[in-house]
Amino acid sequence: MKNIVVQVFNWIDDRLPISKPWKDHMAEYYAPKNFNIWYYFGSLALLVLVIQLASGLFLTMHFKPDATLAFSSVEHIMRDVQWGWLMRYMHSTGASAFFIVIYLHIFRGLIYGSYRSPRELVWIIGMIIYVMLMAEAFMGYLQPWGQMSYWGAQVIISLFGAIPYIGTGLVEWIRGDFVVSDPTLNRFFAFHVFLVPILLLAMVVAHIIALHEKGSNNPDGVEIKATKGKDGIPLDGIPFHPYYTVKDLWGYAIFLFIFAAIIFYSPQLGGWFLENDNFEPANPLKTPTEIKPLWYLTPFYSILRAVPDKLFGVIAMGGSLVVWFFLPWLDRSPVKSMRYKGIYSKIALAIFVISFFILGYLGTKPVSPEKTMIARICAVLYFSFFIFMPIYTKLDKTKPVPERVIYK
Ligand code: HEM
Repeated sequence: MKNIVVQVFNWIDDRLPISKPWKDHMAEYYAPKNFNIWYYFGSLALLVLVIQLASGLFLTMHFKPDATLAFSSVEHIMRDVQWGWLMRYMHSTGASAFFIVIYLHIFRGLIYGSYRSPRELVWIIGMIIYVMLMAEAFMGYLQPWGQMSYWGAQVIISLFGAIPYIGTGLVEWIRGDFVVSDPTLNRFFAFHVFLVPILLLAMVVAHIIALHEKGSNNPDGVEIKATKGKDGIPLDGIPFHPYYTVKDLWGYAIFLFIFAAIIFYSPQLGGWFLENDNFEPANPLKTPTEIKPLWYLTPFYSILRAVPDKLFGVIAMGGSLVVWFFLPWLDRSPVKSMRYKGIYSKIALAIFVISFFILGYLGTKPVSPEKTMIARICAVLYFSFFIFMPIYTKLDKTKPVPERVIYK
């Protein structure tokens, strides 16, 4: 019997390579042996992606992308469909979990200089994924057709109206109507369940292929491929499978434990993961007192609101995303990892992270003159992190980097 299975496998493998990608990307992919807790988040992002695709699939079986039915179909899923509540809460909690994991994943890149040469493209593809995730979350949020779905889309789509000459036409073209309405819901549904997920999957594959081409960075920022043994294998590398597959499984267990606890005990997480306003059906005649996106988009929303002019606000918000793409070329430090960078880089990163948090928090609150002032200061600090990077990373006093990774 075993022989037959092996023969069938070999027959297939001869015609459709299965063992080669497995070897190249798992069993014989040599990853640095000094990965730490920060290296869990890439594989966790993969897990959350699968959770979103699977729960989303079941939601589409009962959801109606029709402005008159969408809200009640979500209620139907929650109350009548067997395990519908679980699928819905997995999907809504999964959206926030995705961003938590991605923010930690990006932060890891920042502290260990994973964006630096030769991994610039891994970073750029990652940023494209991030922007696509924002679009995916935004379009998904319109689907339940609640008050915040409706008014959030109204505000964000109308931003395109600030573009001179083509703005008004562009906004109508995006909505498919003079206001957010049924055609908007329909096309957002098509993008949310089909186009963006497919592109996202393709980009994730490209992200990993690009990473494996040059090999993973590590907390020391040392290129392990520079020190190879006689067999051509990096001396500080260990096979991804079984070492890191087992490690990542441990990460999955911890993550799923926390994820399940939120879904079962506090799926709305006090309005942070699902907003209270969205339990009211969309009403085009009643504007909510406060219109705001969910927490993961609020830092950028804050930058938008901090600028008095609409067009410049949109430019600043767009610019706050575009600057990330240039990071590999802005960092001029001779070393990659924060472990060996000097005090200037550390302070700059700390100020940046604090500003990002404050911007995020302010974006969830109604505007006031004081809050706008703080948002402006934080927006300036946000941009300064990138703009002055070529200067402070050059002036910084770095520590010598060891030749081999440090592994205790
Ligand atoms: C769906 C979203 C994403 C998935 C599934 C994903 C997956 C992964 C995986 C599996 C790895 C290898 C394991 C690890 O280093 O943790 C990785 C590495 C990496 N990712 Fe992502 N990623 C995503 C989004 C992003 C984003 C938004 C960025 C930032 C712009 C990014 C930047 C990087 C970088 C720089 C590395 C190399 C890290 C190193 O070698 O130190 N990724 N990613």
